[in-house]
Amino acid sequence: MSRAVCPGSFDPVTAGHLDVIGRAVDLYDDVVVAVGSNMSKNALFTPPERVEMIEEACVEWPSVHVTVFSGLLVDFCREREIAVIVKGLRSGGDYDYELAMAQMNRKLTGVDTAFLPTAPHLSYVSSSLVREVASLGGDVSPFVTAAVLERIRQRLADRR
Ligand code: PNS
Repeated sequence: MSRAVCPGSFDPVTAGHLDVIGRAVDLYDDVVVAVGSNMSKNALFTPPERVEMIEEACVEWPSVHVTVFSGLLVDFCREREIAVIVKGLRSGGDYDYELAMAQMNRKLTGVDTAFLPTAPHLSYVSSSLVREVASLGGDVSPFVTAAVLERIRQRLADRR
């Protein structure tokens, strides 16, 4: 059985993430979506909230399992017997950043990284831009699911 991990912050999960996760579902028997537990100062959602949103968005993919992880990603992969890390690449900037991590991870435990080019119509979408645009009153509905959009609206309203 082939098992891959799609790691990330997912604050919140976007259409770009779901495109990559869906393609990983086509490539691997089992896909673990791993939400990093580090909370940045600008975080909109807690890691458990992010897990819930991803679970809701991936409900039609039974091979997807969502969890929080902490510590090194390579240790998580070893514990779960995951051989491949799947990452989406939006740009050359992503590549420069991701390449070093992929090489470091491979050096640490031998786990390899498979890069999937982001769908061109989603290459400018990121969680940080979604958070910024939404917090300033912009329409982010093309970039997130209806359920995530509602959670964003609720969270921003609670903070006002
Ligand atoms: O969505 P992001 O912010 O690009 O996700 C980054 C994440 C969580 C995948 C990355 O920071 C990570 O793997 N963190 C775990 C800690 C780790 O293993 N650090 C060493 C990387 S070589």
